[in-house]
Parts: sequence; C-alpha cells; structure tokens
Amino acid sequence: MARILVIFAHPAFHKSLSNRYLIDAIDTIQDVTIRDLYQHYPSGFIDTLAEQAILSQHDVLVLQHPLYWYSAPALLKEWMDLVLTRSYVYPDQENSTAKLTQMLQVVSCGGSLTSYQPDGYNRYTLRQFLLPFEQTAILCGMRYLPPFVIDGVHKHGDATRLRQFASRYRLLLEQIRDESLVIDESCHYLSHPEAEA
Ligand SMILES: Cc1cc2nc3c(=O)[nH]c(=O)nc-3n(C[C@H](O)[C@H](O)[C@H](O)COP(=O)(O)O)c2cc1C
Repeated sequence: MARILVIFAHPAFHKSLSNRYLIDAIDTIQDVTIRDLYQHYPSGFIDTLAEQAILSQHDVLVLQHPLYWYSAPALLKEWMDLVLTRSYVYPDQENSTAKLTQMLQVVSCGGSLTSYQPDGYNRYTLRQFLLPFEQTAILCGMRYLPPFVIDGVHKHGDATRLRQFASRYRLLLEQIRDESLVIDESCHYLSHPEAEA
C-alpha cells in the first residue's frame, strides 16, 4: 500500500467549481492526506521542516491546483522551492528521508484540451506547459504519472461531468494507493486516456 500526500493549492477555494468536487471525492480515502496550502499558510510563510517531515511519511506526491498563467498558483511554487531542496529530496543524497516514488499532477483549467494544441489558441499542449513539473519529479527520483486534468471548467453547465471527474479521481487515487494502476504507454492524460498530447 502506498501512502499519498495531496498538496492542494487554490487561492480562491471558496469560489471553486471543479476542485471542490475533487477534494470532496478524496476526502475520506484511507492513506490519503490532503494538505491545503492556502488554508494552512494564509500568511504565505511555509514551515519547511514541518512540510518535509510530512512528506517523509508518504510515498506518492500529488500536486493539485488550478492552472494559473500556464503554471501553478504562487504558493505551490513557493512550497516546491522550499521543500524540494537538494539535500532533502535528491535521490543521490544519503541523508535524505524522502522516499517518494511517484508524482501525479491534478490540474483544472479554463481552456479546453482542444485549445491546448498547436492549432489552438493556447498554441502548445498542456503536457508541454507542465514540463517543468514533470522534470522536477524526475530529477527528484519520482516517476511522473500522466496528469489528471479537468479542462474547460467554466463550460460545465451542470455538475454531472464534474461528478464524473471526481469519481474517476477517487478511483485513480485508490488504484495508486493499492499499487494496482496500469498505465497504457500511449496515455498522455489519466483523465482523458484518448486525448493526444
Ligand atoms: C490568475 C488566473 C490565471 C489563470 N490562468 C489560466 C491559464 O493559463 N490557462 C487556463 O486554461 N485557465 C486559466 N485560468 C482559469 C483557471 O484555471 C480556472 O478558473 C480554475 O482552474 C478553476 O478552478 P475551480 O474549478 O476550482 O474554480 C486562470 C485563472 C486565474 C484566476
């Protein structure tokens, strides 16, 4: 069984559409810890040692956030800068207590996945925008799983599609925890197995 830490960063969670459904869906899963950065650190000052201590108790890191200017909200970047230090997380460091094996990124975004194509208005694929996260995971000795994406969030008139994403997310975390997840080589997004990258 893998223990999963969800680092959640949403500066306006009280107004959230999709992330609210996602968090509610995984809230009660055994062996999943949710850490809401903006709730925990309203002043923006992150307790690095406390975060590293929590991280050390988990095997899988999930970064869940809305896409802000093709990246993550500022507090998540700050968390990465402070917590994922060379001495703590690099695989070649003998004293490191981190034993993370995999990283999953869970992203909501306003644009649809079709807009994230060379001929779409976002001009590049979402996987391309997420490359700094992917490479960070790899440098820290983790396998980067294909991301889970809720795209076009503002277009969901009713909650049905959001609920579907939320139950898929819950199932996914249960499979990662139980180490039963099988990923097709051609899969670019765990949320949209058929989508191109
Ligand atoms: C400051 C800011 C920047 C944003 N940048 C992007 C972006 O680069 N690409 C995109 O598709 N959506 C962008 N959005 C839309 C958000 O990703 C979207 O509102 C969010 O994922 C919705 O999350 P929620 O469903 O939890 O409310 C941006 C929104 C804000 C407020």
